[in-house]
Amino acid sequence: MSIEDARPRVVELSRILREHNHRYYVLDQPLIDDAGYDLLYQELLEIERIYPELVVSDSPTQRVGADPSNQFQKVEHLSPMLSLANAFSSEDLRGFEGRIEKILGDVCEIYVTELKIDGAAVSLLYRNGVLVRGATRGNGRVGEDITANLKTIPTIPSSLKSIGGVPDVVEVRGEVYLPISGFEKINREREAAGEKTYANPRNTAAGALRQLDPDVTADRPLAFFPYSLGHQEGISPGTQSKVLELIKEWGFDTNPHYRRHSNLAAVIAYCEQFQSRRSGLDYEIDGVVVKVDDLADQERLGSVARDPRWAIAYKFPPEIGETKLREIRINVGRTGALNPYAVLEPLTLGGVSIRQATLHNEEDIRKKDIRTGDVVYVKRAGDVIPQVIGPVLSLRKGQEERFSYPRYCPECRSELVRPEREVNSFCTNIACPAKRLESIKHFVSRGAMDIRGLGVQTIEKLIDLELIEDAADLYSLTADQLLGLPGFKEKSIGNLLTSIAFSKEQSFDRILFSLGIRHVGESLARVISDHFRSLDDLDRADLEAIGQIDGVGPEIGLSLRSYMDQPRNQKFLQKLVRAGLCFESEGVVGQKLEGQSFVLTGSLPNLTRMQAKELIHSEGGKMISSVSPKTDYVVVGENPGTKLAKARSLGIKEIDELQLQQLAAGQIL
Ligand code: IVH
Repeated sequence: MSIEDARPRVVELSRILREHNHRYYVLDQPLIDDAGYDLLYQELLEIERIYPELVVSDSPTQRVGADPSNQFQKVEHLSPMLSLANAFSSEDLRGFEGRIEKILGDVCEIYVTELKIDGAAVSLLYRNGVLVRGATRGNGRVGEDITANLKTIPTIPSSLKSIGGVPDVVEVRGEVYLPISGFEKINREREAAGEKTYANPRNTAAGALRQLDPDVTADRPLAFFPYSLGHQEGISPGTQSKVLELIKEWGFDTNPHYRRHSNLAAVIAYCEQFQSRRSGLDYEIDGVVVKVDDLADQERLGSVARDPRWAIAYKFPPEIGETKLREIRINVGRTGALNPYAVLEPLTLGGVSIRQATLHNEEDIRKKDIRTGDVVYVKRAGDVIPQVIGPVLSLRKGQEERFSYPRYCPECRSELVRPEREVNSFCTNIACPAKRLESIKHFVSRGAMDIRGLGVQTIEKLIDLELIEDAADLYSLTADQLLGLPGFKEKSIGNLLTSIAFSKEQSFDRILFSLGIRHVGESLARVISDHFRSLDDLDRADLEAIGQIDGVGPEIGLSLRSYMDQPRNQKFLQKLVRAGLCFESEGVVGQKLEGQSFVLTGSLPNLTRMQAKELIHSEGGKMISSVSPKTDYVVVGENPGTKLAKARSLGIKEIDELQLQQLAAGQIL
C-alpha cells in the first residue's frame, strides 16, 4: 500500500474505531463484537507500523477507551490506566518474549499468567485502608467517579483487612464483571416479562456501573476481580504474584487461576488449556494476560503509547463463523412482540450445528443493514442463542434483498403498532393465535404452573380441536377428550391430568407470573404478590398504588393495570378462580408494621435488600420504591442514593437497620 492510499484509510479506520469505542465504552451498546473490532484495530496498527509518520496523537491506537461522560464527576487517575497489546498466536507470544529479551538483555525468569476477565476496568483508591474513591478507566487518564456504585458490590471491601498493616495510600485496579449465571437469570426474568434482553454480561455490567442511582446498581449481582496496584505509597511487593497475594490478604476475592511459569512453553500450554476450559467458568474471559513477574523488570521495560511492554493479552479465537442468510422469518411472542430470526445455511461453531440465529429486532436489522442472501457473521456465546452479528460487506454481490418489515401480523394479519421508544413492533390483536399459543406455552412452563407432558404439538392439537381456547380450559379437560389425541395412552393421560390437578396448588406469585403479563417476571411476580396479598387487592389497586411497590416503575404499573382492565383477561381470571386456583398469598403475617411503608436506600450492614424486604413484609409492612409524603420511614444504609435527600426534604423519619429490626420486633423507638 502506498502512503497515498494509506492516508485516507488511516482516517477512515480511525473514524470507525472511534465510533465503536464510543458505542462500547460510553453507550455500552457495541455494534460489532471484539473479533470484528480487533480486525479493524490490527489493520490500523499495521499501517501505522509501516508509515509511522501517519500516527497522530489521538489515533485510537494511542488512546485507551473513550473520554468520560459528563454524567459523573471526572477523576484524574494518579497514574495512567494502560491497555494491553494483543497476541493471537504462540508466534505472537514469542515475538513478545523477543522484545523483552532485547531490552532486558536476558531471559525473563518468571512469567505470570492470569485470566483476562471480560468486564469493566475500575480503580479503587484506599486511604488508611478505607475506600475513598472508585472510578472507571475512562480514557486511561481521566475516568468517572462511580464510588457510590462500586460500594454496592459485595466483593469490593469498603475497608482493607489489616494483617501486616495497610499502606497509607493504595490504588487497587481490577475488573468488575457479571457472573454468567447472574446474567442468564436477569435475561430469563426479562424474557419472561416480555422485556428486551441484554446482549452480553460485559455490557450489562458496564451499564450497571454507570447508573446515576446506586440502588439500581445494587440490584445487579456484580462482582470484582482485582489484578494490579496503581498508585501506592510505602509498599514494595517485588513481584506481580506477591501483589496478588497481598491484595487477597486485604480481603479481596482474587481470581484463583493465576499461575507462575519459568518458560514461554508453559505459558503457551496455559493459554491453550484455558481456551478449552473457558466454557466451564461462571464468568466470561476473552483471553489470558501474560505478565513479567518481577516488578523491577516491569519498570525497566516501560511502555509504548498506551501498552506496557511487560504484559500482553493472548486473545482466544472467537466462536464466530460466516454463512449465508437464506431467509428472515418472524415469530410472534406471547406479548405480541415480533421476533425476527435468520434461517441460515447450516454451519458448525464450537462443535454445535447452527441453522437459525436471532436478529434481535426490527431496529437492529435496519441499523446493521442485514439483507436476505448476505453472507453474515454468526456468533455463539456460551448457552446464549446464536446471534447474527452483521453482514460481511466485502462479500456482497448486489443481488441481496433488503428486508421489508411487515406492516401486518404474520399470524393474524392485524395491523402492527410500534410504540415510541420501542425497538420492536407489536401485534395488538388480543385474539392473535400466535399470542394465544405462546401464552399457553408460558402458562404451563417449568417456572410457571409447571404442567408436565404438554408439548407444543399437543397444545396446538387441543386448540385445533377446540378443546381449549385459553390456558384456563386445561382445568376442564377430561380423559375422554384426551383419548383420541396422537401419542396419548391411558398412562400418559393419567399423568397429564394429575399434573394439571397438582398445578392448582401453585402459589399466588407463580400464578401471577404464569399470566404472562408484560414486564412481570418471576421475581417481580413475587414482589407484587407480597405487596398485594390477593387478586382482589391487586384488582382494586390504581396506578399510583401499584407504582408505590418497591422495584415497580410506571411502565410496569401501566402494563399490570391494562392487563387487569381488559374484559377478556377478567373472564380468563374468573375461569381460573372457578377452577380452584388460589389467588392469595400464604403465610402467617405479623402485624407489628401493619400499614407502615418503608423506603430503603444504600446497603445495610447485615441484611440484604431481599432480607430487609422479607422482614418488613413478614410483619405486614410494605417496602416501596420511591419516597412520597405518604412514606413512614426511610431505612438508610451505607452510600445512600438520591432517595435520602428527597426523604429529608419531606421530613420523613430516618432509621437504620437496627431500628428497623427493633420496630419489627414490636419495640417503640
Ligand atoms: S492488566 C497495564 N490483568 O483487559 C495493564 N488486565 O485489554 C493493565 N483485564 O484494561 C491490565 N483481566 O480492563 C490485566 N488479569 C488482568 C485482566 C486485565 C482483564 C482488562 C483490563 C485491561 C484490559 C486490556
